[in-house]
Amino acid sequence: METKTTISMLLLCVLLSISLPAVRTDYVRPQPRKNLQFPWNPKHPSLPQQVHLSLAGENHMRISWVTDGKSAPSIVEYGTSPGEYTLSSQGEATSYNYLFYSSGKIHHTVIGPLEHDTVYFYRCGGQGPEFQLKTPPGQFPVTFAVAGDLGQTGWTKSTLDHIDKCIYDVHLLPGDLSYADCLQHRWDTFGELVQPLASARPWMVTQGNHEKEKIPFFTDAFASYNARWKMPFEESESASNLYYSFEVAGVHVVMLGSYTDYDELSDQYSWLKADLSKVDRKKTPWLVVLFHVPWYNSNYAHQGEGDGMMAAMEPLLYAAGVDLVLTGHVHAYERSKRVNKGKSDPCGAVHITIGDGGNREGLAQKYVHPTPEWSVFREASFGHGELKIVNSTHAFWSWHRNDDDEPVRSDQVWLNSLIGSGCLEEKTYESRKILFSP
Ligand SMILES: *[C@@H]1O[C@H](CO)[C@@H](O)[C@H](O)[C@H]1NC(C)=O
Repeated sequence: METKTTISMLLLCVLLSISLPAVRTDYVRPQPRKNLQFPWNPKHPSLPQQVHLSLAGENHMRISWVTDGKSAPSIVEYGTSPGEYTLSSQGEATSYNYLFYSSGKIHHTVIGPLEHDTVYFYRCGGQGPEFQLKTPPGQFPVTFAVAGDLGQTGWTKSTLDHIDKCIYDVHLLPGDLSYADCLQHRWDTFGELVQPLASARPWMVTQGNHEKEKIPFFTDAFASYNARWKMPFEESESASNLYYSFEVAGVHVVMLGSYTDYDELSDQYSWLKADLSKVDRKKTPWLVVLFHVPWYNSNYAHQGEGDGMMAAMEPLLYAAGVDLVLTGHVHAYERSKRVNKGKSDPCGAVHITIGDGGNREGLAQKYVHPTPEWSVFREASFGHGELKIVNSTHAFWSWHRNDDDEPVRSDQVWLNSLIGSGCLEEKTYESRKILFSP
């Protein structure tokens, strides 16, 4: 294929995947920062690169990494003392092609059973450096770091540095990871950028528009994302890496896909209904859902884009008594009251948009006026969130703005779970029926 054709196809892909830029106002906020530069160094073909972790079913973790060489083994050796690997697991590997790009060998190896709240030392592929991870606790308290729409700019670096200073157990990412936008080597540099954090704590992600990278007739949507960021969909009885669930220390977390079918006849809808109907609130008193495109958004950017998914799926979330919904897409921060059907409702979920991780597109600064009745706090700044679930009824949420590179805690609130609120009982009849109807 000619270079010209390749370039025009890449342009087509970029056009298909990029979201509309936000409208700017006169108020000057920090400017977007440039993409980081990653010098290329030759690497040993078996050297593990882009190491990241994810939870993979009860007491198990998946370790994913890339090697340039195709013969590197997918083995992980691990143990609780440095340099003493008493245990090992053999995994699987995959790779993909995208126009003229051929990925390295992408390894996925599940380790476990692992003890709760324990530090393990591990090595990938039988050689290379030793990494260190900590497993999440088996019970409350548990802390999540949350940042969406990351990209790989100076602001991304600042957000990651702040998250690195916080004490947390699991990272939650509501979509838009690398902003590779069809330039596949950017997936590799993103993997390198996040490795220091993602090799130490599980990163649980769901897809955004920037993961799609579809070129009609040439490449499938989500080819790179699915190959590189394998999540525990099989472990949660889902047929697709684009939606799944997991449990950690008394929290049931559902990851949904804004860019795969969600109507009532879709596989995602049937899976969600089945997954929610199995949630045992005695075992997991907290129910948290993540997806990319917000349903409650009073920013001009992406206004109304989540309406279709909301119409289809909000009744299920309401019936299940979801406590908290975390989304991205809009490059700003917004927190709602408990809401349902577009207005505040004490039995609905709190919705938080946190698409302000630091990507190159900049902030979404223009808001709808007057502020809707359900919107409690909104601000267009880069930053990250921390969710500390203290016990079965109380959680502390805080949002930290990247202000002159210092993480400033800008919004904070105690959240109460729906356990003991009367909402779950009250809804047992009418609202909950939808979950259990055939
Ligand atoms: C849960 O934590 C909150 C906040 O620290 C505290 O006020 C409450 O008493 C705790 N509840 C239980 C059952 O321990």
